[in-house]
This record gives sequence, C-alpha cells and structure tokens, in this order.
Amino acid sequence: MRKLTWKGKVGIAGLGVAILLGALVGTYFWQIRMQKPYEVNMGEMHHMEGMAGHQHGTASAATHQASLATRSCEAITEGENDAPIREFRLTALQSEKKLDNGGTEKVWTFNGLTPGPEIRVAEGERVRVVLDNKDIQEGVTIHWHGIVLPCSQDGVAGVTQDAVKPGEQYTYEFIADSPGTYWYHSHQASSIQVEKGLLGNFIVDPQQDRFEYDQEETILIQQLNGTYLMNGSTKGTHIEAAPGKRVRLRMINAANETETIRVDGASYRIIAMDGHDLHEPEMLEHHKFLMGAGQRYDLLFEMPQQGKVVVTSESGLKVALGTGSEPEIRSDYSLFRWTDYGEPDPNAPVDKLTYDQSYTLKLDQNLFINSINGKSFHEIPPLMVKEGQRVKMTITNAGGGDHPFHLHGHIFQVLSHNGQALSGSPVYLDTLLTQEGDTYEVYVKADNPGLWMMHCHNLMHASMGMSMMFNYEGISTPFRVGTKSGNLPDL
Ligand code: C2O
Ligand code: CU
Repeated sequence: MRKLTWKGKVGIAGLGVAILLGALVGTYFWQIRMQKPYEVNMGEMHHMEGMAGHQHGTASAATHQASLATRSCEAITEGENDAPIREFRLTALQSEKKLDNGGTEKVWTFNGLTPGPEIRVAEGERVRVVLDNKDIQEGVTIHWHGIVLPCSQDGVAGVTQDAVKPGEQYTYEFIADSPGTYWYHSHQASSIQVEKGLLGNFIVDPQQDRFEYDQEETILIQQLNGTYLMNGSTKGTHIEAAPGKRVRLRMINAANETETIRVDGASYRIIAMDGHDLHEPEMLEHHKFLMGAGQRYDLLFEMPQQGKVVVTSESGLKVALGTGSEPEIRSDYSLFRWTDYGEPDPNAPVDKLTYDQSYTLKLDQNLFINSINGKSFHEIPPLMVKEGQRVKMTITNAGGGDHPFHLHGHIFQVLSHNGQALSGSPVYLDTLLTQEGDTYEVYVKADNPGLWMMHCHNLMHASMGMSMMFNYEGISTPFRVGTKSGNLPDL
C-alpha cells in the first residue's frame, strides 16, 4: 500500500471535516424549517411597542387583550353592494406537467394547470372564487397577493381561515377596487405549495387607463420544483405583435429570487410597480431592472418597424415579441432606479406627513437564523396599530441576500432610501425589494382592521422565520397556527 503524504492526510482530514460540517449545517437548516409551534394564536402574541408617538403601554399581552373589546377577523367580510359579480372556480389537484426541456414534473395545480387559470376582472367588480381541494392532503388556501381586501378573505391558513382539506370548499369574496397586476397563491405551506405550482395571474382592468396601448400581455416567472419557467417555458416563448403596436407588458415574479430583467429591441417605460401606476415615467434605453420575489412591473413600449423585442431574465429565460431579426444585445445596461424615476405627483405629497407610530424592522439572515429584530416566526412581537393611525416603518436589510418584504392587506408608500427622500414619482408597493445594507422608510395608513402577515417573499426565508404580524388592536381570530391544527402558512 502506498503511504499517504503529509499533504494527503491533511486533505483527507479536511474532507472529513467538511462532510461533517455539511451534514451538521444541513440538519440544522432542516430543523429550523421543521421547528413549528404546536399552537399559536396570531392575534394574541406579545405586542411590539412603538418607538415614538403616543403608544406607550407596558401592560402584558394578557391584560392588554382583556382590556379590549375584540372583533373577529372572521366577521370582517365584504359588505353588500350592487357591484357586478364575477364568479370563478378553482380546484386544487395533483397533476403532471410536461416541460419543453423534455422533463415531466409532478405538480400541484389549480384546475390542472400551473400557472393556474388567469383571473381577470374589471375595477370595482365583486370577485367570487369557489375553491375546492381535490387531493392536496395538507390542505390549501388562496392568498390574493397585493389586493386590499377584508381580513376574512386574505387566505392565510391559521390566521384568516383553516386550510381547506381534500373534499372541502371555501368561497372567497371581495371587491377588486384597485386596478393593476397581481397574483394569487396558496398560503398554506407556501414555500412548498407555491413551488409545486399553486399560483396564477390576477389582473384588475382599470375603468379608465392613464396609459394608452393597443395590446397587453402578461409574463409570469415561476420556479416549478426548482426549474425556472417564463410563461411555462424553460427556453422561451413567442408573442405575436405587429410593427408599430404599443404593448403593455405585465410582469410577475412568482419565484423566490430577484430577477434582473432586460428588454432589447425597443426603449420602454415602466408604468406601474406592484399594480400601481407611476407618475410621468420617462423612456428608458438600455436599462435593466430588478424585480424582487412577489413584485410586479408593468412595461410599455412600441414594437419596432422591423425585428423583435426580446425580454430576457438573468436566470436565462426569454419571451420574444414580434417577428424578424433578433435585436442587438449590448454588454452595458444601466440599472433602473425607481427612487428618482418619473415626476413627483402634486396630488400625493409625502414630506408633510407626521406619524402616530414608528417602527424599526431589521431583516437578517445568517447560518443560524432568519430573523426580524433578532427573532423568528411567532417569537417576533407583532407590530401593533390602531385603526386610523399613520405608521412609519424603517426597514433595514442587515444581511443574507435580498429580502423582498411583503405586507398583506395594505399598500405602503416608500418615503426614502438610505436617508434620501424619493425624488421622482411616488411609489406605492405591497412588496419592497431590499438588498444588503439598504434602509427604506415606508408609510402605511392603518385603514384595514385585521391581522395581517408581513414577511420576506423569498418564501424559503419566510419558512425559516422571517415572518411576522401587523396586527390591529382589538381584532381576534378563532384560527390557530401550528402542528395541532395543521395550519402552517409559511412552512
Ligand atoms: Cu404573496 Cu404572504 O404572500
Ligand atoms: Cu429574505
């Protein structure tokens, strides 16, 4: 037998240590993912006190709760009115999907499809969606990402409803009163169910459009069992568009990672973010932009007289519009910044605002923990608000990559980035992409009483603890999160 050299021995020992470390880290992550509470009432956790303003209670959570008359989230529904009703049926069921790379994936679908059927309604219509679960054992829900609706309709397992088990049915009903590009997805075990395919587009057409176009299209990026797809394709799809046509392109990032998007063949405007129009957006040439997980961007461009327009993501996906020659690909693209894009809107001033409550949220991820202000999951005290309050949140990304931060049930306005006030169009979002070192201040009007989740939309991060509640005082829930009920919204 050959004798090992000194270097060989160190090499083998090093390899051993590396394998051991790898195994340890692996089990550790598996455990944090698996470490779920037995039973938690998300409306009755310890309260986070405001850092300023006239919120200064120090009472314990218990006495605090007892002193308040409570209203149940379950009882907060969409009131009667005579809005036209649009009814849809979505059935969650297991299925298979053939991919254009030759593979076949076992997927979970709505009506046999992933993405599920597009839901498209007009602004002001009453949306009624009947959800059935055929055979998803752990149950499903539907969360209407970005839509402001009554608490009971938010589709969060263990907070606003129980997960819908096989054979069961649940009906959602709400008025779609804000036009724009949205999406829907299950919020039971979301980090698993979204990746298995339980998601779809949700478009609310405006009564009156601020922008003019001849044609509109939607592009959805998803990660199906780990494989990136753009409009269902691993390679690239094609959309008909005649020369000279003005196209509105609605883009949805339903995957977990930030996408860098490039448009070649035409200059374009970004006319909306998270469904909300931007004010006087200017033309962009040779720009790429970042789209955080959960976010939407609407683009507007005119098809060239000849050749294609190609939309490419950094993950290698593309969609080509039109026919003819391929556009010239450049090597230099400026990065789009929405903090000084477009023009201020005289009708939406921000700088004069004062706040009733201010909170600081530090998003962090390291080897050991995914946290907000150093805590995870239900250990994070909920941010408490009273109806009518003006709330400022200062959100810092303290590490661990991108954290697209999503608040349910509200639209917030971004005030500043790293101390610099926004100087272009006002920006209203439901999902804020933060990158390492970023600090943003955002303003939320507390005008939708309920119990609302607030979490990183990299759903893996949420499943490992970067998820908390934005709760109104006096609102309760009969539902419970935990292994006892089986409601695990972010597993
Ligand atoms: Cu799109 Cu709490 O989720
Ligand atoms: Cu994150």
